[in-house]
Amino acid sequence: MSKRDKIFEEGNVSGLPFTFNQEVTEVFEDMIDRSVPGYSTSLKVIQEQTKKHFITQSNVYDLGCSLGASTTSLLNAISEQSKVIAIDSSEPMIRSCHDRFKKQIREDLVEFINEDITNSAIDNASVVVINFVLQFLKIEERTLLFKKIYNGLIPGGILILSEKVHFSSERKTKEVSNIYHSFKSKNGYTKLEISSKRDSLEGVLVTETEDQHITRAKEVGFKNSNKLMSNLNFLTYKFKKI
Ligand SMILES: C[S@@+](CC[C@H](N)C(=O)[O-])C[C@H]1O[C@@H](n2cnc3c(N)ncnc32)[C@H](O)[C@@H]1O
Repeated sequence: MSKRDKIFEEGNVSGLPFTFNQEVTEVFEDMIDRSVPGYSTSLKVIQEQTKKHFITQSNVYDLGCSLGASTTSLLNAISEQSKVIAIDSSEPMIRSCHDRFKKQIREDLVEFINEDITNSAIDNASVVVINFVLQFLKIEERTLLFKKIYNGLIPGGILILSEKVHFSSERKTKEVSNIYHSFKSKNGYTKLEISSKRDSLEGVLVTETEDQHITRAKEVGFKNSNKLMSNLNFLTYKFKKI
């Protein structure tokens, strides 16, 4: 387990605006575990769905892999003739991710790439995972990425997408967001930490509604969409290429 996340404790102003730098990398596991309801379940869902939809000798992708938690779920679900392509634009993240894996797995099972996923090639894919990453892309980049993923999937392949969302009703967004803040508070974050992190993410993490995600998926060609999981304002979807 990583160090405890104290980035937004009183007196610590280095977290503005939020980036996936070395400081965040060092506390990332603790941060995501205490900040995202259903995160550990999302990893199990990825493994389960990959077992179901993986096609022999195809590629599987973990876009925005951070420290490789989803990569591990993918590896546990595929055969050794295939590889996981794990991509992250944060240099400290991908370096730590690579360091962790090289002690445990055969070098050729995962390809680690330090690049912006908007520039990545997606090819011969049966499973593509974007676990809480799309929200950090510019809105106009999201559709282009979805198009690229759709084109890079082979028939029967799937995209698993997890995102923080807001609701079309402002009242519901406020209500759920209050419950979400008490979830964080129960996980040990103070009011100051919660509000400082929210400020630091302003304009960096931009949520959309569930409808916007489904519409985008339809627009690029996915005819089949399934909600796999929903925890407060965090959702996991599966989009299948038929
Ligand atoms: C919340 S974390 C993702 C967690 C991870 N997918 C998991 O399941 O544990 C977001 C990650 O996306 C990466 N990221 C954000 N924008 C990116 C981009 N345009 N290209 C590649 N990686 C990006 C960040 O560096 C960060 O590591």
